[in-house]
Amino acid sequence: MCGIFGYMGKSNAPYIIHQGLKRLEYRGYDSWGISTIEKGNIVTTKDTGHIPESIKLKTNPTTVGIGHTRWATHGGVTITNAHPHYSTDRSFVLAQNGIVENYTELKAYLEKLGYIFDTQVDTEVIVKLVEHELKTTKTLREALIKAFKQLEGRNTVILLDSKSGQILAIRNGSPLILGVKEKDIYLASDPLAFNQYCRDIVEINNGEMIEIKDGKYKLFDIKKDKYINRKPREEKLLEIDIDKEKYEHYMIKEIVEQQHTILKATEYTQKQLQPFIKRLKETENIYTIGAGTAGFSADQIAYYLRKIGKKNAISIKSYETESYLENISPNDTVIAISQSGETADTLEAVEILKERGVYIASIINMPGSTLSRLSNSYFMSNAGSEICVASTKVFTSQISFGYLLSKTLVGEYTDAKRELRTISNNLEDFFSKKTFKQIENISKVLKEKEHFFVLGKGQNFHIAQEGALKIKEISYKHFEGFAAGELKHGVIALIEEGTPVLSIVSNDKNVKDLISATQEVKARGALTIGIGDKQDTDCFDYFIEVAKSNDLKAISNVIPFQLISYYLAKELGNNIDKPRNLAKSVTVK
Ligand code: M6R
Repeated sequence: MCGIFGYMGKSNAPYIIHQGLKRLEYRGYDSWGISTIEKGNIVTTKDTGHIPESIKLKTNPTTVGIGHTRWATHGGVTITNAHPHYSTDRSFVLAQNGIVENYTELKAYLEKLGYIFDTQVDTEVIVKLVEHELKTTKTLREALIKAFKQLEGRNTVILLDSKSGQILAIRNGSPLILGVKEKDIYLASDPLAFNQYCRDIVEINNGEMIEIKDGKYKLFDIKKDKYINRKPREEKLLEIDIDKEKYEHYMIKEIVEQQHTILKATEYTQKQLQPFIKRLKETENIYTIGAGTAGFSADQIAYYLRKIGKKNAISIKSYETESYLENISPNDTVIAISQSGETADTLEAVEILKERGVYIASIINMPGSTLSRLSNSYFMSNAGSEICVASTKVFTSQISFGYLLSKTLVGEYTDAKRELRTISNNLEDFFSKKTFKQIENISKVLKEKEHFFVLGKGQNFHIAQEGALKIKEISYKHFEGFAAGELKHGVIALIEEGTPVLSIVSNDKNVKDLISATQEVKARGALTIGIGDKQDTDCFDYFIEVAKSNDLKAISNVIPFQLISYYLAKELGNNIDKPRNLAKSVTVK
């Protein structure tokens, strides 16, 4: 979370930084700040909330500056807590992406030395630490390195110094990338922030410092204490598709795009998949890992690998890998799933596993991301830019690829491709005015309720969980997804007159269980909504018939949840593309 941007060049820095921060806003939009150097002084403009389309900055055109868009970790969302933060003598400002995990100890140490803190943010600890180190070092860069080495956690910092006119930044964990075009130098948490200006990038690895001065950059390894010569290389970066076309929100545009994106994610030929299929055949266990929606993708992909691919596949949440680590060996294969390729929980697990010699494959949507660089091999989801914070099209792209992989493992590649085409065609019919109207009307009924339960089983169990997550994220209503089998073991105690229960029913061997579960909640007064293949029963108060599919029902069934999420949030007047408290890329733990 949080986005960092730095610029030095021939153009108007405040404008470039503002544009860059707008493109980084998906990483956090609690507050923002821009600092530039004017006549030897640092001038800063900060505010809370979203970065406005156009801003009136306190600064005049100038050619160097840094910016930050915040997702609050320590300290409330206030202008004082917004980055960048000034040093006591106002000679430098610093912004950070990450969490200083030993913040309490460092703050106590600095307070004892007499430093006074004005904010609640952990970033101020870094600023004061740099000031403190500056007392015994010759240069600001030395002081920054010394201070940085004392920080625990995944932190990346950027500093603007008015005395030397330079930008300094150090990376550890949280992403940072350099863009170079002649005398223009860009620094950002994500190349998307500057790829409208330049394509030549320089990767910055953990433990490396970048120094930008007089239109030139230098890279320094702070562990080995030496300069590194790394030339820029051209990177094929993802284009941000900022055109909403005829749609009111990115979310609905991205939902409708799924009829195409599931095919894009599975364009791999058998020949391209072959080396990885060979590895999977030889591997003992497969572990899939991810967090949030990517975590449910990991669950669903492991389900396909077991059920279709006949492999021992275990899904683990990235943030809960610890108890498994000892048992995962180089004979196993890990498949890490992530839209951004920058999720801290996933990266941390991958880093540990890689060190243990475990083969890492990943499924990612962002080219050039940290996860792609850490992986032994990776597969692109090719879903195009997903701008809405709630993931929709990337989820179905990931599970489509997992399905293709599982079918290819048992020699059914062609069959899988046929199924994907079928569902893509059927989705085209499903996305009709009639469907949208029906779901909009159901959302009007749901709007009045607070607690909701979603039931699924087998191929639809994780879809119930992902469906519930999707609706929570945008509507802020309490949705919980369960395995239908769990109902009688406790959840049913929560059912009372009018409680909405959404059951996912597919024409598979679990259908009878789902209908029985629905009858049981209906007998206790629940408002019942069926989602799935048409059923000959009167147990549902409402029924959403999904796009027809054979064994890829997970895709057909998750889409109505995405649409309920959208229409419910719209009814409630919520910010659909940028829901409260969330960020698209969770780069802190
Ligand atoms: O970039 P990743 O796929 O690794 O992100 C993982 C989760 O943070 C992400 O899926 C999150 O749950 C989204 N808000 C889901 O809509």
